[in-house]
Amino acid sequence: MVQAKPYLPSLVESSQKLSPSESEQIIQFNHPEKYRTSEWYSGQGEIAASGDNRSFEISATYTLKAEVKLVDGVFEPANLTLAEVYRRRGRCVAIVDRTVDELYGESLRRYFEEHEIPLKLLACRAWESDKTPETVHRLLQFLGKDGCDVSRNEPVLVVGGGVLSDVAGLACALQHRRTPYIMVGTTVVAAIDAGPSPRTCTNGSQFKNSIGAYHPPALTLVDRNFFRTLATGHVRNGMAEIIKMAVTDDPVLFELMEQYGPRLLETHFATLEGDEQLAAIADEVIYRALFSYMKHEGTNMFETYQDRPHAYGHTWSPRFEPSVKLMHGHAVAIGMAFGASLAVEMNWLKSTERDRIINLCRSLGLSVYHPILEDIDLMLEGQKNMRRKRGEGGLWAPLPVGIGSCDYAQEVSSGLLQAAVENHKQLCSDLPDGGKGQEMYLRDLGLE
Ligand SMILES: NC(=O)c1ccc[n+]([C@@H]2O[C@H](COP(=O)([O-])OP(=O)(O)OC[C@H]3O[C@@H](n4cnc5c(N)ncnc54)[C@H](O)[C@@H]3O)[C@@H](O)[C@H]2O)c1
Repeated sequence: MVQAKPYLPSLVESSQKLSPSESEQIIQFNHPEKYRTSEWYSGQGEIAASGDNRSFEISATYTLKAEVKLVDGVFEPANLTLAEVYRRRGRCVAIVDRTVDELYGESLRRYFEEHEIPLKLLACRAWESDKTPETVHRLLQFLGKDGCDVSRNEPVLVVGGGVLSDVAGLACALQHRRTPYIMVGTTVVAAIDAGPSPRTCTNGSQFKNSIGAYHPPALTLVDRNFFRTLATGHVRNGMAEIIKMAVTDDPVLFELMEQYGPRLLETHFATLEGDEQLAAIADEVIYRALFSYMKHEGTNMFETYQDRPHAYGHTWSPRFEPSVKLMHGHAVAIGMAFGASLAVEMNWLKSTERDRIINLCRSLGLSVYHPILEDIDLMLEGQKNMRRKRGEGGLWAPLPVGIGSCDYAQEVSSGLLQAAVENHKQLCSDLPDGGKGQEMYLRDLGLE
C-alpha cells in the first residue's frame, strides 16, 4: 500500500518559516507587513499538523496596543491630538453622550470646523437604564451601511461617561467584528476606569454588564477639565474606583487620597477652584489610578488571568447594585468596606487597616453599608454568578492584606459570609448614619 504523504502547504513568503523541522510540520505564519491593512492591530500564528492528514492545531496571537494620555483642553483648537488622527481620514464619526453634547457640543463642533474636518455626530442618551442591547443596536445603525458606513480601520470617537463607553465600545467591537475607537472619558469613572477598559458591555436582565466583548480603545484621552461640570455626586462616585486601586495596589495613592481626597471632591479635581499645587496632585492621583489599573487590566486584556486587584469591591456588588438601584461607586464602596471586614475575619487584614479603608470612603461621602448585605441568599447567588464569570476555578475575590496589596479568596463559605456580614453590620451600626453614603441611589432611571 502506498502511504499518502502528509499535505504541507507550500510556502510563498520568506517570512513563513518551518520550525523546528519539516517533519514536525509546524508552520509559523508571520503575515508580511505589505499585506497589513489595519493600522491598529497586528497578529501572527502557527499551524501544526499532526502528520496523519486528519487533524491540525492553530495557535494565534493578537497584539492590542492601547495608549492612554493625560491631556489639557482636548477640544481647544491648539490641541492637535484629535486633529492629527482625523485629518488624514477626511472625517470624524463621533458618538457623544447627550448631556455632554449639550455642554461641550459647541466646542467639539468648533474644533473640527477650525481644523476643516467634516464631523458626523450622534448624540446618544446614556443613562444606566439605556445600557441595553437596544441601545447597542441603535449605535450599530449609526455606524453601519445605512448610517455612516465606517470602515473597519476608521477610529470612531466616543465622548462620554462609563455608560456610553460600555455600550459604544461594544457597538465598535461588533461593527465589522472590530472597529477601533478613541475614548474621551468625561466622568471620573470613564476617565480612570471604564474609559480605557477593554471590557465593553451592556446589562443583561439580572446581572450587570453580563453581555459584552473585550475591546479596549486604541487611544484614551483623559482631560480632567470635564469634571468641572460633573455633578458632585458623580465625582464622588468615581472616587470609589480610585480607592480600589489605592487599597489593593498603590499605598502612595492611598495616602494621597487620605490627605487630599475631600479637597479633590470639593473642587472637582481642582477644576472649580484650587491652586497649582492641588492641580498637580489631581493629575498625580489620576495618573497613578490609571497606571495601576491598566498595569493589571491592560496587560490581561481578555481576562484570562484572575489576579485582578481592580475587581476589589466588585465580587458581590454586581448582584446587589441593580437590585437596590445603587450608584455604581457606592455599590463598589460597600463591597470594598464589606471586603475589608471579611479580610479581618479571615486574619488577612488588621482591624486598624480596615478602619483606614472605611474612614477614607466615609471622608468622601461614599456608602460603606447597606442592609441588602444581610440577604445571604442573594449574596451567595452573587458568588455563584461570579464564580462562573471568573471561570469556575474559584471565587477569586480580591481582598486587602494591607494597605496597597491584596490576595484572592477562593472560597467564602456561607458560614464565613454570614459571620462577616454580622460583624460588618455591628461595626457600621456604631457610625452616626449607619454607614449610609451621600446621594447613594441612582437617579437616571429612565423616567423621561
Ligand atoms: N467597563 C468597565 O470596566 C467599567 C468600569 C467601571 C464602571 N463601568 C460602568 O460605568 C457606568 C458608570 O459610569 P459613570 O459613572 O461615568 O456614569 P454615566 O456614564 O452614567 O455618567 C454620569 C452622568 O453624568 C453625565 N455626564 C457625563 N459627563 C459629564 C460632564 N463632563 N459634565 C456633566 N455631566 C456629565 C452623564 O450624562 C450621566 O448623566 C456603570 O454602568 C458601570 O457599570 C464600567
